[in-house]
Amino acid sequence: MLLKGKVALVTGAGRGIGRIISLALAGEGAMVMVNDYIEENAKSVAEEIKAAGGEAESIQCNVANFEETADMIKAILKKNPVDILINNAGITRDNLLVRMKESDWDEVLSVNLKSMFNCTQAVAKAMMKQRYGRIVNIASIVGLIGNEGQANYAASKSGIIGFSKTVARELATRGVTVNVIAPGFIQTAMTEKLSDEAREKLFASIPMKRLGTPEDIAPLVVFLCSDKAGYITGQVINVDGGIAM
Ligand code: NAI
Repeated sequence: MLLKGKVALVTGAGRGIGRIISLALAGEGAMVMVNDYIEENAKSVAEEIKAAGGEAESIQCNVANFEETADMIKAILKKNPVDILINNAGITRDNLLVRMKESDWDEVLSVNLKSMFNCTQAVAKAMMKQRYGRIVNIASIVGLIGNEGQANYAASKSGIIGFSKTVARELATRGVTVNVIAPGFIQTAMTEKLSDEAREKLFASIPMKRLGTPEDIAPLVVFLCSDKAGYITGQVINVDGGIAM
C-alpha cells in the first residue's frame, strides 16, 4: 500500500472525479476525509469506503467560503494531521462572454479558484511544520487552451496553474509538493450536460476518440501523493487522451 498511515482531504468528493480519487486513496491505505457541499453525498462516499474496508469520514463544507473552510480544516487538524490535500471541487456556469452574468463569473472563480487558496492556506502551516505534504490541484486543459463558452471556467483553471506553481516554490524546501492535473473531457455529471452537437465536436478533437473516466485520473493522483513522487513539484500533467499535446 502506497499511502498507509496518511490522512487525505479531498474536496468536492461526493461524486464524480473526487469520489473515485477518494476510493483510490483509501484503497492505498489513506484515511480519507471526504468533503462535499452536499452532505448526503459526502456521507455516502465515506460509507462506500468503509464498506470496502477502508477508513473515511465525511465533512460537509462549502470550500468557496473562507471562514467555513478554515473551521473545517481546524476541526480536522485537532484530531489528525493532513498529509494530502486534493483540491478537486469545481463547477461550471457556461455562457458566451457577451451573455455571461457577473454572478456566473463570481461563482465559478469562488468555487474553482478561491477554494484553492482557502484550503491550501489552511493546511500549509501544518504541512510545513511536519515537513511533509502532498497537494494535488485539479485544473483542466481548458485552462491551457481555452474553450468557447467557458471564459470564467478557463480563467479559474489557468489561475489554479499560476497559484500552484507559486505555492510549489514557496513550500519546496519543506517536503511539500504541489502539482496540477489537467483533465480533458471526463465522463461525469459535469459533462453529461453537453449537447449532442458539442459532444460530436468534442470527439473530433480527442486523438483517442473517447471521453476519459474518473478512473483515468485517480491513479495519477495516487502516484503524485506517494513517496515515489517526492521529487516532482510544480508540474501540470494533462490526462486528456491527447487533446492538448
Ligand atoms: P461533478 O460536478 O461531478 O462533481 C463536483 C463535486 O464538487 C460535486 O459533488 C459538488 O457537490 C462538489 N462541489 C461543488 N461546489 C462545491 C463547494 N463549493 N464546496 C464543496 N464541494 C463542492 O464534477 P467532476 O466532473 O467530478 O469535476 C471534478 C473536478 O474536475 C472539477 O474541479 C472540474 O472542474 C474538474 N474537471 C472536470 C472535467 C470533466 O470533464 N468532468 C474536465 C476537467 C476538469
